[in-house]
Amino acid sequence: MIYSDRIRLRAPERADIPRFVGWLNDPEVRAGLLIALPLSQADEEGWFEQMLARPLEEHPLTIEVHQGEEWSMIGNCGFHNIDWRSRAAEVGIFIGEKSLWNKGYGTEAMQLLLKHGFQTLNLNRIALEVYENNPRAVRSYEKVGFVHEGRKRQGMYKDGKYIDILLMSVLRSEWQE
Ligand SMILES: CC(C)(COP(=O)(O)OP(=O)(O)OC[C@H]1O[C@@H](n2cnc3c(N)ncnc32)[C@H](O)[C@@H]1OP(=O)(O)O)[C@@H](O)C(=O)NCCC(=O)NCCS
Repeated sequence: MIYSDRIRLRAPERADIPRFVGWLNDPEVRAGLLIALPLSQADEEGWFEQMLARPLEEHPLTIEVHQGEEWSMIGNCGFHNIDWRSRAAEVGIFIGEKSLWNKGYGTEAMQLLLKHGFQTLNLNRIALEVYENNPRAVRSYEKVGFVHEGRKRQGMYKDGKYIDILLMSVLRSEWQE
C-alpha cells in the first residue's frame, strides 16, 4: 500500500472488476478516457489477465479513500509505457465515483503517484495526454506540477468532432523544487 493523508493506492484485485465495468461504461467518466465502446465484465476480466502478465511497475493501482472505518475504492491510476533507459513513463488516472469529483482526490492521487514514480521507481520524466475539453483534469495536473509541452491537433475523434490532445509532463528536477 502507498499512503497519503486521505487516500491509499493498492494493487487491483479481481473483485474490483465489477466496479471498474460500471464506472468505465459511464459516459461522463469515459468522456475523458480513450475508451469508446461498451465494456463487458468479460472484456474487463480479459484486461485484468493481460495486466497480470505485464511488469509489476506497470500494474495499475486502485485508489481508495478512508471513509469512516472503511477504505472504499474510488478509481484507478498507474504508469504505462515505461522506458527504463530514458527513465520516462506515462500516467493515467480516473476517479470513477463521480460524487467525489472536485474534492481534491484526483490531485492527491496524482501527487502520490508522482512521489512513487520519482522516489520508488526512480523515473526522471512523467508525461500524460489529456483532451482539451477536460479542464478539470488539466487543472488537477497543473496543480501537481505538470507543464504544457504541446498538443496533437485534432488527435482524437469523439462525439462527432475532432478534439486536440494536450501533452503535459513533469521532470524530476521540477517536482523536487
Ligand atoms: C480528472 C480527475 C482525475 C480529477 O480528479 P478530481 O478529484 O475530480 O479533481 P480535483 O478535485 O483534485 O481537482 C480538480 C480541479 O479542477 C477544477 N475544475 C473543475 N471543473 C473545472 C472546469 N470546468 N474548469 C476549470 N477548472 C475546473 C477544480 O476546481 C479543481 O481545482 P481547484 O482545486 O484549484 O479548485 C477526475 O475528475 C476524473 O477521473 N474524471 C473522469 C476521468 C478523466 O477525465 N480522467 C482523466 C483522463 S486524462
